[in-house]
Amino acid sequence: MTSKTLIKGGRIIDPAQGIDQISDLLMVDGLIEEINTSISKPRNAEIFNAEGLIVSPGFIDIHCHLREPGEEYKETIETGTAAAAAGGFTTVCAMPNTQPAMDNQSVVEYVLRKAKETALIRVFPIGAITIGRKGKQLSEMSELADLGVIGFSDDGDPVEDPNIMRQALGYSADLKLPIINHCEVPSLAEGASMNEGWVSNRLGLKGMPASAEEVMVARDISLAELTGGHVHIAHASTRGTIALIESAKATGIKVTCEVTPHHLTLTENAVMGHGKDDFQPLDNNAYDTNAKVNPPLRNKSDVNSMIESLNAGIIDFIATDHAPHSAVDKMTTFQDSSFGISVLETALGSLMTLVDKGQMEVNTLIKKLTSDPATFLGKNIGNLKNGTSGDITIFDPNATWTVDPQNFISKGKNTPLEGALLKGKIKATFFQGIKVY
Ligand code: DOR
Ligand code: ZN
Repeated sequence: MTSKTLIKGGRIIDPAQGIDQISDLLMVDGLIEEINTSISKPRNAEIFNAEGLIVSPGFIDIHCHLREPGEEYKETIETGTAAAAAGGFTTVCAMPNTQPAMDNQSVVEYVLRKAKETALIRVFPIGAITIGRKGKQLSEMSELADLGVIGFSDDGDPVEDPNIMRQALGYSADLKLPIINHCEVPSLAEGASMNEGWVSNRLGLKGMPASAEEVMVARDISLAELTGGHVHIAHASTRGTIALIESAKATGIKVTCEVTPHHLTLTENAVMGHGKDDFQPLDNNAYDTNAKVNPPLRNKSDVNSMIESLNAGIIDFIATDHAPHSAVDKMTTFQDSSFGISVLETALGSLMTLVDKGQMEVNTLIKKLTSDPATFLGKNIGNLKNGTSGDITIFDPNATWTVDPQNFISKGKNTPLEGALLKGKIKATFFQGIKVY
């Protein structure tokens, strides 16, 4: 029997086709069949009333941590993808800092099998650059490429040795896959738990300077030029990083970058537990370990630079860096706490504050969550063209809600946004025509 879903009367925004209009959308057997101002209900079709709602391609997240195998107490592929679906995502790319790391065929095969068995949405694995993510010896990159990894990363750690990075970028050029680097010069960041600035001084915490990121970004750009490889800068967070990327792009070097929702909306003030910028402060909770993330939350000038460069197209897309941790990992001193924020379920609501304040068009936001990451992947997803997979996100841009991490589907309750009032709520997510949220 054929399955049909008719989404009626929503504002359909599909940046890939330049569509922004009130229309109906019909899915048949998991594929997009038609978009039209008025489609009459076919026999046996399910109807979804989307009046007052925005209908967009399913969001794509190039960077998240699903923790499986090895740290299933933090997250699993099943819980992480269910959380992603609740956040409007229909494709996620899983970082390889699992235990063991995704540095060989059997671990990647395990992840692919688990995804097939338990994931609600599409999962693409990312392979480790080096064995054990130790930065000493390259993984069997071409074997991993054969299994379908979408790129390589030692994320959580940088590739410190420039010669190893050079070799990895050489393979990148051959395999036509990006090297996704977590840029951080270890000796400049050693022992640091937040951004270096007035808040770190006030709180007596060791900070990492913007240069810890920028020095390695500059190095990687140089090595990309030398090798012809494609370097992708994970979670860009400083004004200086953007300047380097902008000039490298202008000279045709293969460099791309992403920014997270938190680096677009929060500053280091969140570590003080007050002045959470755009979000209502909950309390005066200094040393909030839920605001400890790497790269750290930066200052207002950096945040403004992130917003401007996303609008200007210098930043290629938004990625969550969803990094779920358990209570035990976070109920520690600030210094001892794990780095990371659980992001998937707050991404849209926090990003919509930029739209609400007139800092970003909703069409740009959707483009940066759909067609732009799809271009990076080189795959025919993230659009609503006829015949493509029925991956659709429906959200209410005006609905407000208060963040309560206890209601998260993710096992990671670690968010600095607890108690924040967000505007913009996911109403439904369809993956291959099936409602998964
Ligand atoms: O905050 C972070 N958490 N940054 C990273 O690079 C790694 C991640 C994690 O795996 O927890
Ligand atoms: Zn990461």
